[in-house]
Amino acid sequence: MRILGIESSCDETGVAIYDETLGLVANVLHSQIALHSLHGGVVPELASRDHIKHLVSLVEESLKIAQISLSDIDLIAYTAGPGLIGALLVGASFAKSLAFACQIDALAVHHLEAHILAPALVSTDLKFPFLALLVSGGHTQLLLAKELGHYVCLGDTLDDALGEAFDKTAKLMGIPYPGGAELAAIADACTFTPYKFPRPMTDRPGLDFSFSGLKTHALTTWNKSAKTAQCRAEIAKAFQDAVIDTLVIKCTRAIEATGLKRLVVAGGVGANLALQNRLQEVMTKLGVGLEFPPPHLCSDNGAMVAYCGYLHAKQGKKDSTLAVNVAARWPLEE
Ligand code: KG4
Ligand code: ZN
Repeated sequence: MRILGIESSCDETGVAIYDETLGLVANVLHSQIALHSLHGGVVPELASRDHIKHLVSLVEESLKIAQISLSDIDLIAYTAGPGLIGALLVGASFAKSLAFACQIDALAVHHLEAHILAPALVSTDLKFPFLALLVSGGHTQLLLAKELGHYVCLGDTLDDALGEAFDKTAKLMGIPYPGGAELAAIADACTFTPYKFPRPMTDRPGLDFSFSGLKTHALTTWNKSAKTAQCRAEIAKAFQDAVIDTLVIKCTRAIEATGLKRLVVAGGVGANLALQNRLQEVMTKLGVGLEFPPPHLCSDNGAMVAYCGYLHAKQGKKDSTLAVNVAARWPLEE
């Protein structure tokens, strides 16, 4: 079975081909960062139009890389939500039309499920149940992954998603959009910070998160500072240290509460090296297996969509209808 995966939920057009026998045989991406950076954030209408512009050429490119033709594809998997409604509609309509033309199925994939299953693309050993920390630009959740398609949300953010908090904190200190990865790099290069930021919501029981206060704390500290590169680095480090401590505390709590011995970290912020290192240290002590997708599979991509569609198809999921159903909001919880 060969699956063509299409991701278009936000500001990345991702197309990939997953081969049941060979694994991932093509994975191409067009990032819209340059387009949106002119506006300091994602402009939904521009995102939709840009997906339209790039989908056909990305499919052609992925077929070329995999050295196959469209007639060799058995299934199309597309992101049906959550995400920007227009952007999702572009990918879904494209997937459904192409599937109709090829007389194959097009399966809807949940973007968050695709994220947390991504590590299995490289490890090929993703056994359920496991605990998942999903930290992306739009979501921050601790999930109990019971089995394919069955998830329980143990903790969620009450305000900003973590990637969003990284990006907003970067922006307020003059780091250009999307800013999160650059803020992290600046923090990593800083060895000492005089600032200690709060660890939000760790002083009470529960697994929910809140990051908007941390961002405000960064703003207040920045405004009171001399606003030099050194100040920026120290604030970036204080922010990142607080985020990492908070995540480590909540993940440890979730492990204690569930007794699970496997933690998967996924989503764009999962590419954060300091987070990976700290979690690795703590989870090793706890005897918990930790999995991260490689950086290029942490952020949005077509590979995770193709793979998630493949897993569901293997379990018998089918959809030969022409209905284009997408959802801007779509909880992963069963
Ligand atoms: O998963 P993703 O590609 O998109 C969503 O589905 O939301 O995540 C993108 C987010 C952005 O906010 C970006 O700034 C953040 O992930 N990000 C990082 C790092 N790399 C990307 N945040 C912190 N540290 C990083 N190294
Ligand atoms: Zn994502």
